[in-house]
Amino acid sequence: MKNTAQLRKSILARTASVAVIGQGYVGLSLACGAAEADFRVVGVDVDELRVNELRRGILNVPGVSAEVFASAYASERMTFSTDVTALDDADIIAICVPTPVRDNMPDLSHIVGAARAVATRLTAGRLVILESTTYPGTTDEVVRPILESSGLEAGRDFLLSYSPERIDPGNMEFDLRNTPRIVGGGTPEATGIAALFYGQMVDKVVPVSSCRTAELVKLLENTFRHINIALANEMAMVCHDVGIDVWEVVDAAATKPFGFMPFYPGPGVGGHCIPVDPAYLAWQVRRDAGRQFRILEAAQDINAQMPAYVAARISDALNDARKTVKGATILVLGVSYKRDVGDIRESPSIAILNLLHKRGAKVRFHDPYVESLQVNGLVLQRSELSRTAVTGADCVAILTAHSRYDLDWIAEHAHLVFDERNAFGSRHPGDRVVRL
Ligand SMILES: NC(=O)c1ccc[n+]([C@@H]2O[C@H](COP(=O)([O-])OP(=O)(O)OC[C@H]3O[C@@H](n4cnc5c(N)ncnc54)[C@H](O)[C@@H]3O)[C@@H](O)[C@H]2O)c1
Repeated sequence: MKNTAQLRKSILARTASVAVIGQGYVGLSLACGAAEADFRVVGVDVDELRVNELRRGILNVPGVSAEVFASAYASERMTFSTDVTALDDADIIAICVPTPVRDNMPDLSHIVGAARAVATRLTAGRLVILESTTYPGTTDEVVRPILESSGLEAGRDFLLSYSPERIDPGNMEFDLRNTPRIVGGGTPEATGIAALFYGQMVDKVVPVSSCRTAELVKLLENTFRHINIALANEMAMVCHDVGIDVWEVVDAAATKPFGFMPFYPGPGVGGHCIPVDPAYLAWQVRRDAGRQFRILEAAQDINAQMPAYVAARISDALNDARKTVKGATILVLGVSYKRDVGDIRESPSIAILNLLHKRGAKVRFHDPYVESLQVNGLVLQRSELSRTAVTGADCVAILTAHSRYDLDWIAEHAHLVFDERNAFGSRHPGDRVVRL
């Protein structure tokens, strides 16, 4: 590309301006990171309410750190817009829009919509980066032709790259800066310039040979988690059948200093990534290779059946206490998909609540981060975590063990606790606590 030297110079001098399309968790995190690194940034989103609040300094995106947002906002280098003309001034445009699954197939409509918007404003000399998680080939085969409908050519007139967001929401140890960044470009020049841009914000950039490679790196990472969680879940079922404590087995295996990484059982997989991203890969392998990604599809099956397994184990625990699920009051603690975050997307706790409710239980829930949710179409408000609520429940089921729960107090007052997460660990809180 002709203007590469100019773009390189402006990145190094931080005079390059950045537009980030999609102001969800990923896009807002990138916008904040770029503003903190002294770039001028505009965050573009189709959601007017979100944009209006962000403009006023109101953080309305779960998972983004309040301090990170406040600091970037105070820098006055970050603005927000719903108008695609905001892209006109941007030297670097990043696309961070959702990639859901619809009918077991990738739904690229948001990527297509964002790429079309970019195509209408594209001029020569820009760098366009896709950050949304997707299957290999999306950047080259879906985004590139849309951008080239502008009459400009990738590699010759503008640069096109892919860089997956890898951040783990709620993780206090790893953030945008200290999580290495994978970058793959349509040309070595595109990889180099995108790597230079991310290098201003993150400690380590890992260039790879192509957009397709970078796309698959992200899917490998999430498929790896999905499969290992399935292994832990199936191990939990087997251990229960043969009367061995799965938690003790995993912890003991984890003392091996090499060749083993502990994964723990749980109620299934939740959140925006782990249940969704591997489905992109399974779909693509079927489409392009005409075969099943067998280990991945087996993991999907195992994890999908966990809510039913957990609901059955809660029923068994009630049965052992001479009670039936029908008519029992079950207080679920923790409905978000993971500890200490409020994200309930794809949360298996909700699937478990639905199942118990269908079996006739009177379900209640408490979660410090969630005020209300839908159970079989009915809106359920959070109950208090009071002594009355705990003693009034036939079973208290800890499905997500938020760190602020006072476990000893719960064990002291509850008639029966089902501990799905081994929240009590090696403590022995008595016979009233049943572990998965
Ligand atoms: N949330 C995570 O932990 C995480 C981590 C890594 C990767 N990802 C991936 O990053 C991508 C974005 O995820 P997210 O969690 O930030 O999504 P999100 O749903 O939180 O936010 C996406 C935003 O994009 C906006 N949007 C949709 N279409 C648009 C368009 N055409 N133009 C402008 N704005 C548009 C939406 O209004 C929304 O505000 C997805 O592909 C996701 O899989 C997410």
